Amino acid sequence: MTDANYKLTDEARRISVDLPAVRGTVGPAALDIGKLYRETGCFTFDPGFMSTASCRSAITYIDGDAGVLMYRGYPIEQLSANSNFLEVAYLLLNGELPTAAEFSEFEHEVTHHTMMHESMRFFLRGFHHDAHPMAMLCAAIASLSAFYHDKIDINDPAHRKLAAIRLIAKMPTIAAACYRYSIGWPMRYPRNNLDYCTRFLHMMFEVPSEPLDLSPVASKALDLLFILHADHEQNASTSTVRLVGSTGANPYASVAAGIAALWGPAHGGANEAVLKMLAEIGDVKSVGKAVERAKDKNSGFRLMGFGHRVYKNFDPRAKIIRTMCYRVLDELGVSDPLLDVAMKLEEAALKDDYFIERKLYPNVDFYSGIIYKALKIPTEMFTVMFAIARTAGWISHWIEQQETPDTKIGRPRQVYTGAIERDYRPIEVR
Ligand code: ACO
Repeated sequence: MTDANYKLTDEARRISVDLPAVRGTVGPAALDIGKLYRETGCFTFDPGFMSTASCRSAITYIDGDAGVLMYRGYPIEQLSANSNFLEVAYLLLNGELPTAAEFSEFEHEVTHHTMMHESMRFFLRGFHHDAHPMAMLCAAIASLSAFYHDKIDINDPAHRKLAAIRLIAKMPTIAAACYRYSIGWPMRYPRNNLDYCTRFLHMMFEVPSEPLDLSPVASKALDLLFILHADHEQNASTSTVRLVGSTGANPYASVAAGIAALWGPAHGGANEAVLKMLAEIGDVKSVGKAVERAKDKNSGFRLMGFGHRVYKNFDPRAKIIRTMCYRVLDELGVSDPLLDVAMKLEEAALKDDYFIERKLYPNVDFYSGIIYKALKIPTEMFTVMFAIARTAGWISHWIEQQETPDTKIGRPRQVYTGAIERDYRPIEVR
């Protein structure tokens, strides 16, 4: 960048402009800069959206400094202790906790949309056997807009609701089918006499030849993980769903884009990355070396499952899930050297000054990875598990966006750093 550019920036800083404040019910106010460019000729520059609110939303509230997370005003601690994933999904979608009759109707609707279209089995069979389940899930969810194209009028509230039910209901069936295909097992149909999480575990692990012996703590832990992962306001994947949704794209395409965004190791891919990292560390004796490597900026290595963009003191979800993590390990009597590495790493990082000073604590994905491993869910399915839970949040945000009258297409601007205007030169003189 040239000095002239910097001068321009300095001039820009002296520009005075009145900006209206936008206030929510709780949390910091936001400056409405919508007219800034028109009035001053300047953009704002905020890569990574460190100080930018992209929308108004009444779904989830986070106070990262205080470690607060609330869905529709209900603290995550209360929901985790008293609710279940389907009730939380209803709450996210509708804004209120259901009455007994409303819950029973919602549960019935979800339960009776769990089957996948039979043709989707052929669609999934088109993948190479070793395809990553996230790749299959992303494509399969996008394909729902082809299977249900007659019911994707985004302006019809009944179509929007049906899409939400279908996504929440079918996501576990499709996810389990992706996994079973990858290991060469026959796909299982959903058993609708089971609850949401137990049904999913059956679709994952039941074989036709023998009954499945499932510990109740497995469904309980899964339900808790799904509650904790159900929504997290404008994170990268939800913002992606909204950006795609802002163009008028259908709900399945929007949610498929969210799945793609979730896949990255800085977001939902972290729980898979945690297990890969633990395997790389190998044994408890190497934990100290790994911590030192994570502190060395030149190593390019970070402790996966540590740190969070918003929670700078502690992740309230991690606090809740840590207790469940120890319960699962205890009740299932799991003994696994990688889990010993995880526990040692947690202990070492929590008392290391580098991590304390930067407020880097284990996040929810550190413990979710360990629980999934204890439940024998394969590593490449970890992010898929996250996607099943987050579907409730994604589709709630998509619906809220469609119901907001002044929604504009999301279209950020940029600070251009390329060549300034120059003349085309024919190839023979270059
Ligand atoms: N290991 C080692 N150092 C770290 C880590 C880590 N996991 N995370 C952050 N740091 C350091 C950075 O090097 C930086 O140090 P510096 O101030 O000396 O330069 C400081 O802590 C701040 O880090 P940023 O990258 O600026 O923090 P940011 O808020 O942008 O990133 C993120 C948050 C992406 C989660 C980061 O902590 C990270 O990469 N963690 C590992 C991946 C992970 O667990 N992701 C899951 C997030 S939770 C979720 O998606 C549900």
